[in-house]
This record gives sequence, C-alpha cells and structure tokens, in this order.
Amino acid sequence: MIEKILNIFKRKTEQEENPEIKITPRTLVVLCGVAGSGKSTFAKKFFKRTQIVSSDNCRAVISDNPANQAVSKHAFDLFYFIIEKRLLVGRLTVADATSLSKETRRQLIEIARKYGFKVVIIIFDIPLEICIERDQKRPRKVGEQVIRNQYINFLEAKKSIPTEGFDEIFILNEKTLDTATVRIIPPYTTSNNSASL
Ligand code: CTP
Ligand code: MG
Repeated sequence: MIEKILNIFKRKTEQEENPEIKITPRTLVVLCGVAGSGKSTFAKKFFKRTQIVSSDNCRAVISDNPANQAVSKHAFDLFYFIIEKRLLVGRLTVADATSLSKETRRQLIEIARKYGFKVVIIIFDIPLEICIERDQKRPRKVGEQVIRNQYINFLEAKKSIPTEGFDEIFILNEKTLDTATVRIIPPYTTSNNSASL
C-alpha cells in the first residue's frame, strides 16, 4: 500500500519535472515570454522551421534587420497574415513573439477561432535575471532595460491569460524549460492511446 502511494507520488513528480505538452495538429501554439526567455530555442527544438512564424523574422523579411522596432506595425501585419494563411490551409503553427500585449493575444485567438483551430499558449516563466544574462550572451541583444520593462508586462500577462479564452495554458519554468517535451497527437487518439489508428 505504502509502495503504491510512493509510486503514484513518484509518477506525479516525474510528470511535473518532465511535462509533456500534447498538441493536436489543428492548433495555433502561442509563445509568451520576455526576450531571452528561450521561446525561439524551444520552438526550434520541437517544431519544423516552416511551422514557426516569428515576429523577428517578419521584421527581417521587411527590413533586413530582425531587431528593427521601427517596422513593428508592418512586421506584425505580415506576422498575422502568414499565420492566417497557414491556418486557412490547416497547418499547425507556432506564433513566436513575446505576446506580452493583450491585443496581440486577442488577435491570435481570433484568427484561431476563425479557422476552427485550438489555441494554446506556452508561458516562459523564467526569472528576469536569467533572461537578462542569456540576452547578454547572445549575438542579437535586446538589452537589460527593455527586458526589465517587458517583465512588468509579463507579470500582467500571467494574471490575465487564464481569462482570455485559450484552450490550454502550459507554463514552463527554469527547470522544465529543458526537460519538457512536445508531442503532436492525432486528435482521435484517446488519453490512454487505445484508439485504433
Ligand atoms: N538559452 C539557454 N538555455 C535555454 C534556452 C535558451 O541558454 N534553456 C539561450 C539561447 O541559446 C539564446 C538565449 O538563451 O542565446 C535566448 O534564447 P532565445 O530562444 O533566443 O529567447 P527568446 O525568448 O526567443 O528571445 P526573443 O524574444 O528576443 O526572441
Ligand atoms: Mg526569439
């Protein structure tokens, strides 16, 4: 009996430490976190390059510079446009932007609903100091002050997200960022995987 309880506890701990993010193909995956929190690194680890639509890439496509804030409006027009076209043709898509503003999240939810997609959000809840340190070590630096300002918006976002209509919310912290996995599951697979394919 004690062994059974210990096993249940062990399994629960394992799941918490190695969370598995299960996603069905008709899903828009929204990433949310400050610069340097690891969004793009995580996306590249689990998704095809073509599945990832990145706001920084959209800045680069327009202006040759992924950090060019002056073209934000046009970059985001392109960002939503590509996402919408991908959902129109039924493709799983990852929206790689900070998604710190409620308006960005609202627009992404709206596009997903328009095409009957699920919309989930992965929150990168990484300590501010780690994000600043990682940003300083990478070639394209956003800078400490920008990240500090973003973090204030991030704390707001974390509070607001549960009320915004996402189908699922996944939160990664500094431990689970490196241990979490993503699995794309066919929508007809049941939780115990017993459905015949
Ligand atoms: N990094 C790391 N360990 C992780 C994840 C990321 O050391 N577990 C490093 C990456 O190698 C990168 C930096 O942290 O140099 C920032 O990661 P990145 O994925 O670029 O962060 P983003 O959240 O995508 O930042 P941005 O919003 O500026 O695109
Ligand atoms: Mg990035």
